Amino acid sequence: MTHVTPVDGPAGSVTARVPAKVNLQLSVGPLREDGYHDVVTVYHAVSLFDELTVTSAERTSVTVTGEGGPAVPLGPANLAVRAAVALARATGRRGKGSGGVRIEIRKRIPVAAGLAGGSADAAAALVACNELWHAGLSASELAGIGARLGSDVPFALAGGTAVGLGRGERLTTALVSGSYHWVLAFGASGLSTPDVYAACDRLRASRRAKDGQPHAVQGPELSTELMAALRSGDPAQVGPLLSNDLQPAALSLQPLLRQALLAGKEHGALGAIVSGSGPTCAFLAKSAKAARDLAVGVTGAGVCRAVVQVSGPAPGAAVVESGALA
Ligand code: C5P
Repeated sequence: MTHVTPVDGPAGSVTARVPAKVNLQLSVGPLREDGYHDVVTVYHAVSLFDELTVTSAERTSVTVTGEGGPAVPLGPANLAVRAAVALARATGRRGKGSGGVRIEIRKRIPVAAGLAGGSADAAAALVACNELWHAGLSASELAGIGARLGSDVPFALAGGTAVGLGRGERLTTALVSGSYHWVLAFGASGLSTPDVYAACDRLRASRRAKDGQPHAVQGPELSTELMAALRSGDPAQVGPLLSNDLQPAALSLQPLLRQALLAGKEHGALGAIVSGSGPTCAFLAKSAKAARDLAVGVTGAGVCRAVVQVSGPAPGAAVVESGALA
C-alpha cells in the first residue's frame, strides 16, 4: 500500500490505482499438498495501471471496461468483489446494509497475461474500500486479507520490488537501485495460471522419467547474483539473470512465444522472459530511448497482439481520488 495525497472526488466515491507486476525471478519448487507450489520470486511492479472506483450502494456490483474487460467475471467470482466482501466481513459491515459498493474497474492490465491483473484489482478494491468506509486497517492487515484472495495480492498492495516466499504472499522488500525500462508484449490469447503450473509439473515428471532420475524436484532458491545486480542498478547486469521456471511450460502451451522472445533479443533486449505464467513477454532495455526502439522493433516483427513501454519499480495500490463521506 502506497501513500499519495488523493485529490477530492465525488462524495461517497473513492478511486484507487494499482500496478501490474513482472517476475524478475520465478523459482518453482515441488507441488504441495494444498495444490500450490512453494516459490521464491522477485516481484517488480511496472507502470501499467488498472483504476478502480468504489461508490457506496445498496448491493455490491461490478462493471469492467478497457483491456480484456469482457473476459472478466462479473459475479461473486470477480476478485475485486471478493476483496470488497472480505473487507466488509473483516470490519463487521457484512449483513448490516452498509457494506455494499458499486465497483467500476477500468483495465489497462490484460487478463490472464501473467501480470497479476486480477490480483491488482483485488488490491485496489481493498485500499479503496478501506478509505470509503474509514475502516482504518493497516497495510499488514490488508495484506493478510489479500493473501487469502490470491498469492499475488499482497505484492500488488506493496508495489516496488520485493522477494516473495511461500505461495508468493510472504514478502520482503528488495534493495534495488535505479529504475528499469521495459517493453511488454501481449500474447494473442491468455493462459490460465493453474494450467501453466500443471504443464510445468508434467514437463518435470517426463524429464525425470527420461533421465531415470528418482529424486524429487528441488526446493526454490533465490538468485543472489540477481539480487546483487539489482543493487548495482545496471540493467546490463540484470538482463542476463532474469529467469522463470514456468517459461518452458508457457512455451509448451503457446509455442509462438518463442518467436516473440527471439524478436525482443534481435531488437536489443538485455533480457527477455515470459512474465509469470505468461503469455506476456517482458523485455529489459538499457534506457528509455532503447525501450522505444525495442517497442518499435517488436511491434514490426508482428508476433504479438500489442506492445507497451513501461518502467519499474512502480508504487503499489494507492487511493488517487477520494470523496469518502466523513
Ligand atoms: O493464488 P492464486 O489464486 O493466484 O493461484 C492460482 C493458481 O495458480 C492456484 O490455484 C495454483 O494452481 C497455481 N499456483 C501454484 N503455486 C503458487 C501460486 C499459484 O501452484 N505459488
